[in-house]
Amino acid sequence: FPAELTDLVRSHIREIPDFPSPGILFRDITPLLADGPAFGALVSGLADVYGGRVDAVAGLESRGFILAAPLAAALGVGMLTVRKAGRLPGPVIGVDYALEYGTARMELRPETVSAGQRVLIVDDVLATGGTGAAAVELIRQAGGRVVGLAMLLELADLRGRDRLDGYQVDSVLVY
Ligand code: PRP
Ligand code: MG
Repeated sequence: FPAELTDLVRSHIREIPDFPSPGILFRDITPLLADGPAFGALVSGLADVYGGRVDAVAGLESRGFILAAPLAAALGVGMLTVRKAGRLPGPVIGVDYALEYGTARMELRPETVSAGQRVLIVDDVLATGGTGAAAVELIRQAGGRVVGLAMLLELADLRGRDRLDGYQVDSVLVY
């Protein structure tokens, strides 16, 4: 991504120590979203990078939706909603993935994906990569072709990239 985009994001992130639990440094994107010109510049910056290369944008519930929807609209392509378990009416396919404690499940309506469609997966944060890897698996099972994952923030220490081996992962800002 262009350095200006990275600088823009960095300057609009708020860091909150000990949230949601002690020892965790939370990176809050709400100041970025609340700033109209900054949010607009982010979306158009992403659209410049991916224009002409994708047929659909998949957003990961819930914070990924915030970025995926305007990006899809800016690109003139559809948005796919990869949702938490139990939210989508059937038929759905689902993939379970590990959390720090326990498991979670993401679901997708496979009929929203066209065969061979070039799909960009978008989320706000890449941490352990569990959510992103589940999304890759869902798009793949539905017949789409994952052309890459675009993340706003990446927490490199957690090595999420390793779980997405073989896929193009682009993060605007890496910590
Ligand atoms: C957060 C974040 C990413 C995911 C990253 O979502 O928005 O989707 O965790 O973590 P991972 O790489 O370790 O899977 P969260 O599940 O907290 O839900 P939210 O988007 O609904 O806030
Ligand atoms: Mg999320």
